[in-house]
Amino acid sequence: MIITLKILILLWSINLTPVLLGYVFAKKWSWPLDKETLFIDGKRLFGNHKTVRGLICGVIAGSIIGLLLGFPLWVGFISGLLSMVGDIFGSFTKRRFSLSPGKVVPVFDQLLEGLFPLVLLGPVFSLSGIHVVFLLIVFIITTFLGSLFLNEVLLTRPFHSYSREILLKIRFREWRACQTISYPFHPVLNIERTIYYHLFMKTVFRLLGLYNVGMKNALDVNLKTLNFEFNKLPDSFHNYQVLFISDLHLDCLDGLTEKLRSIVKNLSVDLCILGGDYRTESYGSFSKALESMKELIGDINAKDGIYAVLGNHDCFEMVPPLREAGVIFLVNESETIEKKGSRIIIAGVDDPFYYEGSDLKETFNKVSNDAFKILVAHSPEVYRDAAEYGSDLYLCGHTHAGQVQIPGIGPVITHCNAPKEMVHGKWKYKHMTGYTSSGAGTSGVPVRFGCKGEVVLITLKKVT
Ligand SMILES: [Fe+2]
Repeated sequence: MIITLKILILLWSINLTPVLLGYVFAKKWSWPLDKETLFIDGKRLFGNHKTVRGLICGVIAGSIIGLLLGFPLWVGFISGLLSMVGDIFGSFTKRRFSLSPGKVVPVFDQLLEGLFPLVLLGPVFSLSGIHVVFLLIVFIITTFLGSLFLNEVLLTRPFHSYSREILLKIRFREWRACQTISYPFHPVLNIERTIYYHLFMKTVFRLLGLYNVGMKNALDVNLKTLNFEFNKLPDSFHNYQVLFISDLHLDCLDGLTEKLRSIVKNLSVDLCILGGDYRTESYGSFSKALESMKELIGDINAKDGIYAVLGNHDCFEMVPPLREAGVIFLVNESETIEKKGSRIIIAGVDDPFYYEGSDLKETFNKVSNDAFKILVAHSPEVYRDAAEYGSDLYLCGHTHAGQVQIPGIGPVITHCNAPKEMVHGKWKYKHMTGYTSSGAGTSGVPVRFGCKGEVVLITLKKVT
């Protein structure tokens, strides 16, 4: 029984290693094993998905895991090599029969990868023929289920308008948080957040008697007015008003949507920018947040439109319905706004923090260097690239200004990999002016202490 389990662990580890490397390193160091060589039938020997990285690391994994399981080094090494050779031979054969290398062929895909090393492991451990067949069947069934999940979920474009690059790490994160197929299991798939925020932190605030006060503070959202001066701003955009609302988390608190609606309906601005994070949780249903968003959007009076970016709590599936509701979503895209013959650029990147989707090169692809540019990103992390691509104003949120600030110390947690001065408020980097909003809503625990939520009304000023 023990030897059966050990052999299965060894084979699973070898099988999983190339996938894990793809998860961690994506396309880095993924040189194709066949060096793009063509076979006599004119087709590639193996294709791009069989890499030098996968082969070497599969063998190393076999050696190391074999040793950890108590096998001699050579057993793990040869098992790794044979399993990888079986995998590559399978790929070679599929190519000859014109089968797509990514297409799952049940049993065949897993057969050689398990059979080749078992030809060695059977005699070494004196396993009976029935024992070897049993091991092979278990290996085939389990790895087939794994390959199904990999190919049908993690490597598949989830819907037509999905425009992110298909990357294992990002698709895995989306599967944990977004895909409706996994929705009922989200609290389990995000167990660390469920325990930390819902069981631990909420209990702490309640025991301290601070929960209700904190929720009241969170509903006390400010309208903040700011003037930003630029000498590059076209004359016709002098006094141009931009309403900036970030981290709305509209389903975090009863009454928040109504509070924000009461603020925005009294305003008439030139442009509205939404900085991402429309739902409270970073997983689960977003239908309530979507409905609240539609109500809020209906109350925003912005002459040149409502622009938005995605935050780390958002799902790509939220983009199409919000676009239908009239929001202009910028996912590594830019738009031009014209006024009396002059132009400014409004550009927005995909979430840089969790989904790692920001692509400044793509965003500014068709933008001229001398244009005045407003860049919107959910978080401040991409400030260096933003300045390099000539952004004049960088608008972001994400930090919630800590949400809880201790007097004399400041924010306790910011979830931000940017300098401290970029955590909240106005900041400067090289020629670029930045503003990090404390956000309108809350996440994690729906409380605020020491920092108010805000809706920001920015007036652009031309200076000479
Ligand atoms: Fe947020």
